[in-house]
This record gives sequence, structure tokens and C-alpha cells, in this order.
Amino acid sequence: MRINRVALFGFIIALSGGLLSFCWNVIFNFVLSKTIRLTPGSSLTKQWKDPEVPLYTDIYLFNWTNPEQLYDENFVPNVVELGPYSFRDVFSRVNVKWNKNKTVSFRRRRFWYFDPTRSARPLSDNITLINPVALSAAHVSRFNNYLLQLSVSGALKVTGQKLWITGTAGEVLFDGYDDPLVKIASKLVKNEGVTYDKFGFFYMKNGSSVTEGYFNVNTGEDDFTKIGIMRYWNYMNRTDFYQADCGMINGSDGSFYPPGNPKEKPIEMYTVDFCRTLKFHYVDDREVEGIPSYRYVGTKMLLDSGELDPENWCFCGGECLPPGVLNISSCARGAPVFISYPHFLHADPYYLKQVRGLDPSEEKHQFHIIVEPTTGFPLEVTGRFQFNFMLQPNENIGMYSKVPRVLFPVLWCEEIARITPEFASGLKLLLAVPTIGLCLSLALVVIGLILLAVAFMRIKRNRRDQNGQQMYSMVNTKPLEDQRRHPLT
Ligand SMILES: *[C@@H]1O[C@H](CO)[C@@H](O)[C@H](O)[C@H]1NC(C)=O
Ligand SMILES: *[C@@H]1O[C@H](CO)[C@@H](O)[C@H](O)[C@H]1NC(C)=O
Ligand SMILES: *[C@@H]1O[C@H](CO)[C@@H](O)[C@H](O)[C@H]1NC(C)=O
Ligand SMILES: *[C@@H]1O[C@H](CO)[C@@H](O)[C@H](O)[C@H]1NC(C)=O
Ligand SMILES: *[C@@H]1O[C@H](CO)[C@@H](O)[C@H](O)[C@H]1NC(C)=O
Repeated sequence: MRINRVALFGFIIALSGGLLSFCWNVIFNFVLSKTIRLTPGSSLTKQWKDPEVPLYTDIYLFNWTNPEQLYDENFVPNVVELGPYSFRDVFSRVNVKWNKNKTVSFRRRRFWYFDPTRSARPLSDNITLINPVALSAAHVSRFNNYLLQLSVSGALKVTGQKLWITGTAGEVLFDGYDDPLVKIASKLVKNEGVTYDKFGFFYMKNGSSVTEGYFNVNTGEDDFTKIGIMRYWNYMNRTDFYQADCGMINGSDGSFYPPGNPKEKPIEMYTVDFCRTLKFHYVDDREVEGIPSYRYVGTKMLLDSGELDPENWCFCGGECLPPGVLNISSCARGAPVFISYPHFLHADPYYLKQVRGLDPSEEKHQFHIIVEPTTGFPLEVTGRFQFNFMLQPNENIGMYSKVPRVLFPVLWCEEIARITPEFASGLKLLLAVPTIGLCLSLALVVIGLILLAVAFMRIKRNRRDQNGQQMYSMVNTKPLEDQRRHPLT
């Protein structure tokens, strides 16, 4: 009887090991669904609210060095890239509100701290740029009637606007510089309760929780593959900045990508700065802190407006330009702002011919995101975009009546984030669960088989022993009596 019990035990262990090895994926998915979701107080939520990932924004400014040649025939602007002016970012999600419908609402806040050790240049650099304020005023009035354009023309003259401005790097970025036109406008218009009394590309953004808008995203509680997906931005699920599908708010807000996303499917991120969803395509496999992952990049397709992919027609916003530049003027309060990759990487050669001083390189200027595919966590992000202003003639506005049409590169930004080794080891542990499970089930199978083998060997030996004892008992009967009394020893 005891031999059979060992055999049965071994059989059960081996069987459960075998079954476990098959259903381990189910168990792992269960573990993932419990780990990859935002719930108040969880450690993932803590990371999501106040990411510990070191974040940097590197900004490069294009100093315009030949403004006095603007009216020359065949004018081509000369620009010199200056930078990086490097900032350490402290990013957090604030006003977090948990909703009953398995979504969470929040605002985003970012502080920038100048980091002189990472920077190549001081913020006191003197920079010459195309005048963004006057250009925006002229652009906004372009489709208005003649009289309004005349008054804008007059206002530009009275406030002493020039075609270009000079200021320090610090002023044109964060501190803002005084501009009489902005002063007047600030008395008339307020945006999200913020008064812009100066002009700077990042003026009033430092530490503000209102400039990026109000977000509503999935918590992933009902379906962890949809964690972090945008549902509403400023209480809307689409924007009016682009027509048709181009105005849809899709994808994540940048913190998570869909777990288990297949390579063929591009990942999507909604960017507030461009008021649109960006799609990134898989290119190759990478390893970050020893974690195998997928690399996605910004391709030509991302900044196309219908020439490469007809579906992108709705990003034209007026006149369709050659591919490689996106018109975000509707999202930039009417300023003639156009987005491209730095140095017009991947753009139509048309743009590079218009400026001197640029030198695109994939290594330095490509936008990439490296994602761990099972969990969808971004491990390394290098977000790179260039902001350009379009100068174009307008005969009703005095100062712009005789200018050429040129797309001016003004600055490009590089946002860099990479997970810490500590976060990586936590993630590795989670990712090791299937391997641990497989080893565990294999170990169970082996233990079970050993027990079975032992049991069978014992049965065999017992049979042999019994045979021997029977022979022996012909000589001496005493052991046989013992055997009968303890039949299983
Ligand atoms: C930027 O260009 C102007 C000429 O337009 C020049 O005077 C100035 O020194 C340049 N700034 C730097 C930091 O090189
Ligand atoms: C979920 O509920 C909140 C609060 O009632 C609301 O603001 C949000 O728009 C809702 N989100 C969705 C996707 O229905
Ligand atoms: C942003 O704000 C913080 C806190 O007010 C300040 O310490 C920091 O210098 C500011 N950064 C910039 C670039 O102005
Ligand atoms: C967008 O929101 C409206 C109401 O706010 C809703 O009727 C519509 O179904 C939503 N569309 C999508 C795609 O979620
Ligand atoms: C850019 O978009 C704005 C707003 O949609 C439009 O008025 C303007 O004509 C566009 N500019 C070009 C050059 O396409």
C-alpha cells in the first residue's frame, strides 16, 4: 500500500507540473492585469504621478546671422546652431481625480532647471531670430478684411516692430522679453487664465499646471492593454485644430503603450504641443539596462500631409506643403509655426535648400521610443522636434510687403528620458515570472517523475525480495513470519 501512495503522489506532482507549464501564461497574464493598472496608492501609480526617471530637455537655438541681407535677391538665411541649453525636468501629474468609470483625470506640471554642466552654452548668449510676435500678428490677420490688416500694419509700425529680434537665450526661452505688442494684447486676451505680458517660447510654462490642459485617461482596471489611453483632453475626445480623423485624440499620453502590442502595429501618443496624435513605427530590437525591447521611430510618414499616405490629407491645414513639415498654426493660436524633425531630417530636400547651416543626421536628429513589449513600459525616449516660423509676403502689411517666402528654423528640442537601473531590476523581476513559472513546473515534473521512479523501483525490489525471501524461508521460517507481521517493510 505505501508504495502505491508514493507512486500516486509522484503522479499528481508530475501532472500538476505539466498542467502548470501550460497554463502559466494565464497566470502571468493575471499577474500583469493586477500589476499594470492605475489604482490609488499603488507603486505603479506613484511612479506615474511623480516619475523618478531622470528627464532632460536640451534646446538648440538657431542664430540668424545675416538678417541685413533679407532684401537681397536670392536671399538665403544663414543660421548657426547654438546649444544645447540643457534643462533638468521635474515632471508630475497633479490634481489627480479617480473616476467611477475606470478613468483618471489630472493635469500635468513641469519644472525646468537650467543645468550648466550639461549645457554647451550659457543662457546669456545673444541670439538673433525672426520676429515671432510681429510675424504671428501678420499671419493671424491674413484672412481678415483689408481694414483690419491696415490697422495691424499700423500697430506693427507704431510699436516699432522689426523683422528680427535680438535677445538672450534665457529671454527668448523661459524669461520672456518685453514686446509692446504683447503688452497691449495681454490687456485684451487671456488664455486659460494666464496673462502673457511678455514673449518667450516657454514663457509661463515653467511650473504651470494649466498650460497643458486637462487629461482623462484609462486606468486599465477593466482591460490592462488599454492603460493610459487618452479618453478626453479638455473635456473633448477630438480637437478642432485638424479636420476629420486627424483631429481625433488617440493613443496614450506618453506614460504607457499597449502591453503585448505586436511589432507591425505602430504605437500612438497624443502630444499637447501639436494638438494631435503621433504614430511611431517599429524598426528594430534593442536592449535597455539588459531588457530586450522594441525600438519605434518617427518616420517620414509622421510629418506627411497626404503626399505619402492619402489618409494624412487632413493635416494639410490649408495649403499642402511638401512632406516633412507639419502646419500647427491652428494649435499655436494662429502663429505660423511649422514642425519638422531637427535639421529637416527625412523632409523633402525643398526645405534644406531654403536655409544654410543645417546638416541632418539620423543619429543626432531621429525621434525614438524604446518600449518593453510585454508590459508596454517606455524604457528610453528621445523626443526630437524642430520649430520653424514661416516668413511670407503680405502686401497689405507694410513691413512684410516685400519679404521673400522662407521657412525659418528657430529652435529644436530634445526630450530625453531613460529608466533607472532600480526600475529596470523591478521590471526584470516581473518579466522573469514566466521563466520562473516554467522552471517551477519543470521542477515539479522532474520531482514527480523521480518519485514515480522510486516507487516503481521499490515495487520491483520488493517483488524480488519477496521471491528471495520465499526461497530463504524454505531454510528458515522466522523472517517470513516477520514479513507477514510487517508486510511493507
Ligand atoms: C548670433 O548672431 C549675431 C549676428 O546676427 C552675432 O552678433 C552674435 O554674436 C551671435 N551669437 C552668438 C552667441 O554667437
Ligand atoms: C469619466 O467620469 C469623469 C467624471 O465623471 C468624467 O469627467 C470623464 O469624462 C468620464 N470619462 C469617460 C471616458 O467617460
Ligand atoms: C523654474 O521654476 C523654478 C521654481 O520656481 C526655478 O527654480 C527655476 O529656475 C525655473 N526655471 C527656469 C528655466 O526658469
Ligand atoms: C466622443 O464624445 C461624445 C460625447 O462627448 C460621444 O458621443 C462619442 O461617442 C465619443 N466618441 C468616441 C470615439 O469616443
Ligand atoms: C497653416 O494652417 C493655417 C490654419 O489652418 C492656415 O490658415 C494656413 O494657410 C496654413 N499655412 C500653410 C502655408 O499651409
